[in-house]
Amino acid sequence: MPSSVVRIGLLGCGVVGQGFLRLLRERERLIRDSVGATLRVTRVAVRDPAKHRECDLTGIRVATDPLAVANAEDVDLLIELIGGESMLEPVRAALQRGISVVTANKHLLAVHGGELERLAADSKSTIRSEASAGGGIPVLQALEHGLRTEHFQFLVAILNGTTNYILSTMERDGRDFAEALQAAQSLGFAESDPTLDLSGADTAQKLAILVRRAFRMDVAYGSIPTEGIIGMELEDLRQADRFGYTVKLLGIALLNSEGLDLRVHPAFIPKRYLLAAVRDEFNGIYLRGEATGSMLFYGKGAGALPTAQAVLGDVIVAAREFVAGVRFLGAAEKHEPERRLPLDAVRTKYYLRLIVEDRPGVLAQVAACLGGTNVSVAQMFQAEGIRGEASITILTHEARDRDVREAVKGIAKLPAVRKTPRAVRIFDI
Ligand code: HSE
Repeated sequence: MPSSVVRIGLLGCGVVGQGFLRLLRERERLIRDSVGATLRVTRVAVRDPAKHRECDLTGIRVATDPLAVANAEDVDLLIELIGGESMLEPVRAALQRGISVVTANKHLLAVHGGELERLAADSKSTIRSEASAGGGIPVLQALEHGLRTEHFQFLVAILNGTTNYILSTMERDGRDFAEALQAAQSLGFAESDPTLDLSGADTAQKLAILVRRAFRMDVAYGSIPTEGIIGMELEDLRQADRFGYTVKLLGIALLNSEGLDLRVHPAFIPKRYLLAAVRDEFNGIYLRGEATGSMLFYGKGAGALPTAQAVLGDVIVAAREFVAGVRFLGAAEKHEPERRLPLDAVRTKYYLRLIVEDRPGVLAQVAACLGGTNVSVAQMFQAEGIRGEASITILTHEARDRDVREAVKGIAKLPAVRKTPRAVRIFDI
């Protein structure tokens, strides 16, 4: 006998939770027609039940203990929107008793994704997390369904709205890093701790989540070489422009014969790339598959309603499965053994910017450092500065990443070099 009601336990009722409740109410009929049952929120766990909220919680049991909601008899489906490591226990508890989970918790998926998926497979439940990577862009559902059997050659993505907003604002308005960060924070899509955005950790978490689906590979996000945009100067963006590039913080997964090359770092990308047009708080995920060729997923990576819509999309699939008594994700998913190409061995071009003393022989010393580790110069530009300084911009040919880093270390030690050299990879494949 099919269920006519699917009972939902909701953990967290912040902006995304409230957005979700709003969509649930406004689209009630559409949802019922899609699922074949009514979705009813029976329980909510919030930190402070007395706090004023914009949404109507009438008829819902409001409590403070997430674990009690995860274990409640009148919950058929758990939605977790609190975030962070503390949600591991309630999510585990729900999965262990066969209750499917929908979550926006990128930390949980990036750190414990493999374990939670195995747990779900064992108990014939599912865990879905569309909202955790790429926000409102339904890329995980596309990978789960239509692209499930595709072989991907690469995935290159802009996954952090805050840093993309900062870089776009610096480039477009000529504002410096600190001003652009302040503007991003006031718009509300930065993490409460913005170092997660700026250090690239947020992008690395999202990349690990996408890689699990796209490459069927279980990767711990902490093992992904990660550099953020801290230290990026307006002058770097101006130089990028001079050479026909724009600067983006990229999550990169390239599959080649030696293994999967995974990394997160800012990069110069050619202005003609579709990803170059992904500006401000928008995200973009560019994929190339063996059968499908190139695809770009573009949209909002953060914000209450885009995220709530992603949660609702997952809830609809999970509720349909519940009603039909089937599940489409999990048990069949075999992960490939992790075969990685270390960053040291990656071959890439680089942009270097040096502030040096403007006197005879300095350029020769810089060239000797580069030549010494087999790095070849492709283009160079020098501008006379003030106080007897010169600014040298160098674009290298493709070289081993470790060799360029070694050369830069050598350059930094030259007495004529006045500032820590700037070094940014060029992504031009
Ligand atoms: N801080 C994140 C961003 C929010 O800026 O993209 C969405 O995960």
